[in-house]
Amino acid sequence: MNTPIRRFAGLYRDADPLRLHMPGHGGLTDGGLGCEALDITEVQGADDLSCPGGVILESENNTSALYGSRHTFYSAGGSSQCVKAMLYLAYTHRPEGAGRRIIAARNAHKSFLHGCALLGLEPDWLLPGSESPLCSCPVGPEALSGLLSTGEKPCAVYITLPDYLGGTQDTAALAGVCHAHGVPLLVDNAHGAYLKFLSPSRHPLDLGADMCCDSAHKTLPVLTGGAYLHVARGAMAPYEASARQALAVFGSSSPSYLILQSLDLCAAWLDGEGPELIRQTARRAAQLARGLGLPEPAGDPLKLAIPASDYGLTGAGLARCLRASGIEPEYADPDWLVLMFSPLLGPEAFERILGAMPQRRPIPRRPLTLPPPGRMALTPREALLSPRERVRAAEAVGRVMATAAVTCPPAVPIAVMGELISARQAELMAAYGIEYVDVVR
Ligand SMILES: Cc1ncc(COP(=O)(O)O)c(C=O)c1O
Repeated sequence: MNTPIRRFAGLYRDADPLRLHMPGHGGLTDGGLGCEALDITEVQGADDLSCPGGVILESENNTSALYGSRHTFYSAGGSSQCVKAMLYLAYTHRPEGAGRRIIAARNAHKSFLHGCALLGLEPDWLLPGSESPLCSCPVGPEALSGLLSTGEKPCAVYITLPDYLGGTQDTAALAGVCHAHGVPLLVDNAHGAYLKFLSPSRHPLDLGADMCCDSAHKTLPVLTGGAYLHVARGAMAPYEASARQALAVFGSSSPSYLILQSLDLCAAWLDGEGPELIRQTARRAAQLARGLGLPEPAGDPLKLAIPASDYGLTGAGLARCLRASGIEPEYADPDWLVLMFSPLLGPEAFERILGAMPQRRPIPRRPLTLPPPGRMALTPREALLSPRERVRAAEAVGRVMATAAVTCPPAVPIAVMGELISARQAELMAAYGIEYVDVVR
């Protein structure tokens, strides 16, 4: 596969023109990073991400063909930008009779809440049947159907799959329910760009989603910030026609060409050795799980969520053991340690992990679960735009959240803006080490 953006940037670097344009490092390689010569801007021939017709469009077309999308739009602003763009598209092209209501699984990333607040959307939460960890929100098609059958028609249904602990759900069934009600399904697939290349594909586009975002940078060899906004073949045409403008509303007008080149190179990798490396890494991760006496990661095979109590520790304690062997995990909380596996890792990395894990010493532990949402006192928009003050989380019970209370990662809010903070939410904030929160003054 050709790599038109990277090719252009390489030719530009080699031609070595006197750069009388942005960025201010002037392409001089002694700028300190070594990549400055390739960090270009919209010079002649470099195309323009906001209205591409040259090398960027060609590269996006390559990626669209790989994913089988109607079109895949590049983002240099991560899934955070794509999530907001999806919400904007869902609202501006809402189904007839729909308003500002959006049905969403509660384990949404904070970018969803920021998007809702900016756009004036009002989430109606899909909650798990019983209490589940902060990062997960298993919801069945029946629960979704029930919510869709009551109240105002929503502009969309929004789910996060895979979640931060690698959990997935029956996306195809959820998509079927949405479409039976004439409502689009949006999927935050930030963690699942690689799912397309498993056999069979587990990518949301192949399971009925209308739009989804993938943080290519999370699981593929792409620089931080590189992401895709996919519009599905079966989705309504206006989503594709307006997506570029929607991304522009929430992104910089100077997207990084280093990130764009990396997305471009990734397309060639996915067209070549990438899929086999992904599947090989999934097999190695499954083998590691078996070696640790854990169930094989099913829905998101490049991620392993280890229950820390199996080792008589907290997630943070388990992370310390790995750090002592020079291994840095993706995420640790009181209950979980999460490891993510790049498809570029070799077999020795997995042996190293096995060697670094302490002896199993299971202890009983009741995992932290997300309490029910607090009562909404203000809309997310009203709360985010209100005057605020910072108070100790322990003293915030009964106050109205002005932002989303999150630890980052996983950036899943315990309480969302507009909610009255409950005592149980405040307790959970303490358990996650959130000391202060912004509340409406
Ligand atoms: C579930 C989920 N959605 C969206 C995002 C935002 O992605 P990005 O960092 O690419 O902006 C993240 C980031 O961690 C995430 O975990």
